[in-house]
Amino acid sequence: MKISSSHIIVLLLILLITWTFVSAPLPLEDARGSASIPIGDVFRVIAKENDIVRTLYTKSIVGQGKKAGLKFDEDWENPDIQAGPLPALFLAKAASNIDINPVELDLYLGSHQPITPTNGFEGIQIEKFESLLSTKEPVFYKDPNSGIETAMFPDFASAMACVTCHNEHPDSPKTDWVKDEVMGATTWSYPKSMVTEEEFISIISTVRAGFEFAYLSYLTEIETFDRKPEIGTQWPSAESYSIPDLDTFMSKFRSAADSATLNQLLSSK
Ligand code: HEC
Repeated sequence: MKISSSHIIVLLLILLITWTFVSAPLPLEDARGSASIPIGDVFRVIAKENDIVRTLYTKSIVGQGKKAGLKFDEDWENPDIQAGPLPALFLAKAASNIDINPVELDLYLGSHQPITPTNGFEGIQIEKFESLLSTKEPVFYKDPNSGIETAMFPDFASAMACVTCHNEHPDSPKTDWVKDEVMGATTWSYPKSMVTEEEFISIISTVRAGFEFAYLSYLTEIETFDRKPEIGTQWPSAESYSIPDLDTFMSKFRSAADSATLNQLLSSK
């Protein structure tokens, strides 16, 4: 049987119901409809899913794709440039879709030393990011003005490519980044401090739909290339000028994300 995202969501829902039943002092009917999940737990789940998709995209698409002869560029959406999105721009594309979704979740990749000035932190984000920089741990806070719940997760220079590209970029205000340094923070926000299971499922679905939209945008861009890679079940490599189709990419992501998310839900109890 092919496992679709709706199956996974049903599985998650069953797990959540069981989880609430086991952990909550309330009768099951009450607990299911009540806002019983701290938003911090939800932020940790989606931050982990974001790490998974970003690693998959960075290593298996950008890293392997370059070996196959594919290009990745900051101006990837310019019709004259035949390239795919850089990892930060893959995330920006997903964020644009997450932001327009009716679920009131926001995603922002910011930095204290941004290449693009609009990616800088503002207001309370500046001081919260300072504490993230000193501990290298995520920070969770409620914005005192808007009351919006926010979580910042450190964005590490996990590959030399992060370091060299940022150091050499003409607009980069900092040119001495080193490997494993904190380069910024993926910043999530949501207006409530506790959510119901239903909201939790919608948040995960929204985030996954954002990743799907970002990958689909790349596939759409490929249609304009003069030399199109083959789009199918193959992943790129030095021997293979190909790119996985949407289903192949998302299945690979989901198989890693589903188990990470279940593990996180179980360990948060
Ligand atoms: C080939 C070049 C390149 C690589 C590789 C790259 N980046 Fe970037 N990165 C950019 C560009 C260009 C931007 C600005 C994009 C925009 O306009 O939003 C950016 C944006 C960012 C931002 C938002 C703040 C800013 O500078 O505008 C962060 C944080 C970031 N990158 C971290 C990373 C990390 C971590 C890695 C490695 C996992 C990485 N980048 C890899 C080029 C690169």
